[in-house]
Amino acid sequence: MATTSKKKTAGLADIIAGESAICTVGKHGKGLNYRGYAIEDLATQASFEEVAYLLLYNKLPTRAELTRYNQRLQSLRAIPDPLKETLEKIPATAHPMDVLRTACSLLGCLEPETDFSQQHGIADRLLAVLPSLLLYWRRFHADHQRIDTRTEAASTGEYFLKLLTGKTPDKTHIDAMNVSLVLYAEHEFNASTFAARVAASTLADFYSAVVAAIGALRGPLHGGANEAAMELIQRFQSPEEVAPALKAALARKEKIMGFGHRVYKTSDPRSPIIKEWSRKLSTLCGDTVIFPVSEAIEQFMWHEKQLFPNLDFYSASAYFFMGIPVMLYTPIFVCSRITGWAAHIMEQRANNALIRPGSHYTGPEPRAFIPVDQRK
Ligand SMILES: CC(C)(COP(=O)(O)OP(=O)(O)OC[C@H]1O[C@@H](n2cnc3c(N)ncnc32)[C@H](O)[C@@H]1OP(=O)(O)O)[C@@H](O)C(=O)NCCC(=O)NCCS
Repeated sequence: MATTSKKKTAGLADIIAGESAICTVGKHGKGLNYRGYAIEDLATQASFEEVAYLLLYNKLPTRAELTRYNQRLQSLRAIPDPLKETLEKIPATAHPMDVLRTACSLLGCLEPETDFSQQHGIADRLLAVLPSLLLYWRRFHADHQRIDTRTEAASTGEYFLKLLTGKTPDKTHIDAMNVSLVLYAEHEFNASTFAARVAASTLADFYSAVVAAIGALRGPLHGGANEAAMELIQRFQSPEEVAPALKAALARKEKIMGFGHRVYKTSDPRSPIIKEWSRKLSTLCGDTVIFPVSEAIEQFMWHEKQLFPNLDFYSASAYFFMGIPVMLYTPIFVCSRITGWAAHIMEQRANNALIRPGSHYTGPEPRAFIPVDQRK
């Protein structure tokens, strides 16, 4: 049997898998920043569209550039008719992540990338249209309505909330969505971004790389954690119920979703920002259970395992307080992270080498082939 060094290579932890100028994830004392700008500054002072522009065009836009960019995104929200027909045929019971994966793939058939010079146009198109695709499907099945996705709305956050309810959203909710989209936009070589880069490294088209990323994001160890975290929080009626239940869960070696991180070891810099928004939204909607329970979970996990909440944990309750259905939490992540994925696909293409690592072989030694009739 060949030897294995599984411990060293499990999940590629601590392996440097390439170079990137897009984001630092708290390493080398640099904190979390997008193209050199601190996440704390971006989350408090920038709109999501400014951040998208920064990631995709490698500079913060001027006021005039931002105005033009917002207008451009608004002009790209319409859904082609064949895609609407498909969205109507996808079952109401489908997971919205599967809907986005399918819709993105079909858009790649209807508006294919025939030349890499189209990549910026496709990135903008996906950024603009992903909320439309998701919420057209949702409203068709939930409310039996064929909504007009060209609804007037200045920002992506407002657009999302307006399509979801058909009503003008509360200003605080729009602001909270903006912060959430900024926080989710980019995070270096996480699983979904790496999946996108692997696909891009084969010189596949843009949509194929994004579909790969959506698939990788879906699982609860990555983007799916925000939905799993909300399901956990909702199990408790009071903070007192938390400790005994989580003690038992940890004894069964269960993972508590929304806690821990592959790169961060003591805290996730995005978590305090979204936590404060969750607290604010909790107060506004008169919540007396969800936020106190969430804090009890946070305290227990730190006390018991020195594990801290990651971005997904308080994002879950923030979305809950805005009335967003739990199944849409991970799709919101997609609507934001499309910016980071797109930046990485373009970066990969700009200096491409096929990503094809090796493995430690753990199978049998070479052996003689036995013809089928002689096998016992
Ligand atoms: C994110 C995550 C996959 C990173 O994991 P990782 O770097 O591979 O670390 P491991 O899963 O090997 O965990 C190391 C140890 O901490 C424990 N641990 C890590 N996260 C945990 C969690 N959320 N709940 C309970 N225990 C956890 C593991 O059980 C393991 O303990 P052990 O050494 O006694 O076996 C992991 O923390 C996790 O599964 N978190 C929950 C899912 C989540 O929130 N994902 C979103 C990430 S942004």
